Amino acid sequence: MRTYQIAPSILSADFARLGDEVRAVIDAGADLIHFDVMDNHYVPNLTIGPLVCRALKPHVSVPIDVHLMVTPVDALATEFAEAGAAVISFHPEASAHVDRTIGLIHEHGCKAGLAINPATPLDCLDHVLDKLDVVLIMSVNPGFAGQSFIDEALNKLALARKRIDAMVARTGREIRLEVDGGVKVDNIGAIARAGADRFVAGSAIFGSGDYAKTIAAMRAAIARAE
Ligand code: DX5
Ligand code: ZN
Repeated sequence: MRTYQIAPSILSADFARLGDEVRAVIDAGADLIHFDVMDNHYVPNLTIGPLVCRALKPHVSVPIDVHLMVTPVDALATEFAEAGAAVISFHPEASAHVDRTIGLIHEHGCKAGLAINPATPLDCLDHVLDKLDVVLIMSVNPGFAGQSFIDEALNKLALARKRIDAMVARTGREIRLEVDGGVKVDNIGAIARAGADRFVAGSAIFGSGDYAKTIAAMRAAIARAE
């Protein structure tokens, strides 16, 4: 049986009250905290680094899901592992040696994910899927919260789901299929049907008045889609 996880992205939280926001969204039912790291180089925006991850860690009772939108990757991946990340995902275009970066993340005791941009083919999973813990399908171009879901991501999720199921049947290792960008209550059912089992949502949750109500509505929409 598939289990589904909701990962609120703190990019849309009130940064002046970040500790309170993270506690509130965990109380509201978040399964992970999604932590978007942007460097104004790989993506045209600048956000938060390992210092903030380390500061939040004592307030977070669920895994921290770090999404690195930075280049180079390796030094920051190490710093985030030491700052308390449980999962670290990165973009293949941003690392000179993708297999080495995956190994480095594992050596530091974290789960490793590959984040796949809208125009990046799934071929980047060839030869590394057996080592990955997460495939992160980007349903927007990375860089900003509040963008619209790109529908082609549904086809891509379905193809990624087939690859993952075949790999899990072969190795027995768990691989999560995460989706990130433009996820809302009204499209999450279709996204689940396409095969995703971990859903990042920023503006849909933090932009709503009632985090618990929104997360519950997302879970209900997923259950209806099953
Ligand atoms: C986009 C980020 C996302 C973003 C999602 O580059 O990786 O995690 O915060 O925000 P929404 O859910 O508003 O699209
Ligand atoms: Zn993200």
